[in-house]
Amino acid sequence: MENNKKTILSGIQPSGAMTLGTYLGALKNWAALSETYDCYFTIVDMHAITARQDPAELRKRTLSQLAQYIACGIDPQNNTLFIQSHVPAHAQLGWVLSCYTMFGELSRMTQFKDKSAKNAENINAGLFTYPSLMAADILLYQADLVPVGDDQKQHIELTRDVAVRFNGVYGDVFKLPEPYIPKIGARIMDLQSPTEKMSKSEISGGGCVLLLDSPDDIMRSFKRAKTDSETSVRHDPAEKPGVSNLMQIYSACTNKSFSAIEDEFAGKGYGDFKQSVGEVVVETLRPIREEALRLIADKSYLETIYAQGAQKAAATANRTLNKVYKKIGFITA
Ligand code: TRP
Repeated sequence: MENNKKTILSGIQPSGAMTLGTYLGALKNWAALSETYDCYFTIVDMHAITARQDPAELRKRTLSQLAQYIACGIDPQNNTLFIQSHVPAHAQLGWVLSCYTMFGELSRMTQFKDKSAKNAENINAGLFTYPSLMAADILLYQADLVPVGDDQKQHIELTRDVAVRFNGVYGDVFKLPEPYIPKIGARIMDLQSPTEKMSKSEISGGGCVLLLDSPDDIMRSFKRAKTDSETSVRHDPAEKPGVSNLMQIYSACTNKSFSAIEDEFAGKGYGDFKQSVGEVVVETLRPIREEALRLIADKSYLETIYAQGAQKAAATANRTLNKVYKKIGFITA
């Protein structure tokens, strides 16, 4: 059945464990979108291999990530949840689009520059053409909106440029997507390096809280969180990045405003504050962790979900791919 809902697509790489930052910044919002939008959420394993992955770990993380999507409230009946490599159209359209993406454009991608600077011994061609594959992920589903963090805006812009270039030659094949930056864009920073985004794959100095961390681990991470030499709980990201980040986390978990939080902790020290932030995070993540662990143990359920998801996704993706193949002059097989 066709419907009039707009389409949303987003994806996360299974390149590391899912973090509190991913939950508050992305998954929590995604879970609420399916009422209004036709949603596709994917686990982009093909993107993950642009960095070397341990095969057993990758398999484990991919399944675990699927379980965590569901545990965060993304209902597999109302959303299409799938693993990118299960839908060959991504690789197929990715190749085609790489022929409509310019070397110069790819060279300007800041994520490519960052990642190649950090990983000089493995600057592979896939890392370079990654945005063409990401464009395929999005354009295959004719997505209207792509929920992403700020760091991905440039890739969405490139996706639009490639789509415009392709449509300019062949007619209206692709819908032009827009980034969808959530209103309450909780951007969670690393607890030890609060000027850097909390990221699974990059920093590992104990500043990252994982969705599957035990309550003890979570409390420990918050007790050790970096703050500053003052003692007042006050929101000031420039001067007090650590405390402001903790306030952001507390606010995202309790829906309290920054000024309410300032009042609540007026006259109290950082010790009390960190304890309270740790406690609300433990309670926020408890049901997610329990459900995720239950699902990870139920492999046959996860298999059913990803098989169904791949089928649903492929049906949409192949419609677009067939159209593209015809337009560019490939003979229908
Ligand atoms: N590039 C994204 C990231 O690193 C992941 C991604 C791949 C993605 N394909 C996508 C995000 C399609 C949104 C839509 O975070």
